[in-house]
Amino acid sequence: MSQAREIDMDGFLLVAQGHSAFQLLWSGVQLGLFDALSRHPGSTAEQLGETMQLQPYPCRVLLIGLAALGLIVKADERFHNSAVAEKVLVRDKPDSMAPVLGWQADIVYPGLQDFLPSLRAGRNLGLSRFPGSGETLYERLVSHPELEQVFQDAMSALSRQANRLIVDAFDFGSFAHVVDAGGGDGTNAIALARRYPSLRVTVYDSESVCQIASEKIAAAGLADRVFTCVGNFLQDPFPAGVDAILFCHILTIWSMERNLDLLRKCWRSLPATGAVVVFNMMGNDDDTGPIGTALGSPYFLAIATGEGMLHARKDYQQAMLEAGFTRVAEVGGLPLNHGMLVAHKN
Ligand SMILES: C[S@@+](CC[C@H](N)C(=O)[O-])C[C@H]1O[C@@H](n2cnc3c(N)ncnc32)[C@H](O)[C@@H]1O
Repeated sequence: MSQAREIDMDGFLLVAQGHSAFQLLWSGVQLGLFDALSRHPGSTAEQLGETMQLQPYPCRVLLIGLAALGLIVKADERFHNSAVAEKVLVRDKPDSMAPVLGWQADIVYPGLQDFLPSLRAGRNLGLSRFPGSGETLYERLVSHPELEQVFQDAMSALSRQANRLIVDAFDFGSFAHVVDAGGGDGTNAIALARRYPSLRVTVYDSESVCQIASEKIAAAGLADRVFTCVGNFLQDPFPAGVDAILFCHILTIWSMERNLDLLRKCWRSLPATGAVVVFNMMGNDDDTGPIGTALGSPYFLAIATGEGMLHARKDYQQAMLEAGFTRVAEVGGLPLNHGMLVAHKN
């Protein structure tokens, strides 16, 4: 689906001064403005200034900016959250994007200052903002516990929203045992096991991440059906005896060449009845967007790995076929620019 667009002058200013727009937004979140307006819609500037402990002049600068951006609405000298702000900027709401914005502020924002040299070099030079060993952000974060927490909180918030889609998007009850490759803290595996009472799920991830997942699985009372397996799926074999391999927000991390190798390995590991499922944000086939994926890819190029991106649907489909899978089917109609592709071995 194409989303060809041409920019108007307001759109241009939003792009050209995107740094100001983001700082207004992030400051509003950190100062609790959207929380305050959710609790007390119709507050005045004076009341909001008191709540945020801002003097009248800086408070006015913030409120003008956020009103012009449409994040808050001003009428009769009183302020309200816009519908979007009420949904995604209030911290205790289920769809809160506040942790995701923290990741943008502390990791993506500084790292993308090296976007131009990264474009020229074709690799992730933004990583220099996070000193440590390793060539990917994931390895570097080990040396930065505070940023690691910011990152995990953001991933967890994204997973919570996304896993609501996964469990009903496709009938996982047709499988006996699914490996959740790079399953993270087990959020998705637990949601799948709860939804499909006879399904077994194995989280396949690094040792420290599996430890976190094991605790969550035990707390959920699912240790009899949800397991962990420590390993590196780029190097180690997939666990035996499973009939499906799920990649949830994984195949964006690497190049399509590496993904193809991984899919070939899946094909070799699975039984004749096996299937592979890919779930993540996907770009339009004609490389025109959507805006959410287009703005996400620079992070993978300049910071995360220097080879990943939010690849187009057709690239995943082609790689699945090239790896030997058949019956590649897309689960349609997923929000958040997400796609789910299911391919069978036979
Ligand atoms: C972006 S997170 C996705 C987590 C989860 N699947 C989700 O959708 O929320 C990527 C996860 O993949 C894991 N991972 C990355 N490379 C891996 C590898 N080679 N082998 C095993 N796990 C890996 C990371 O430890 C991390 O937990």
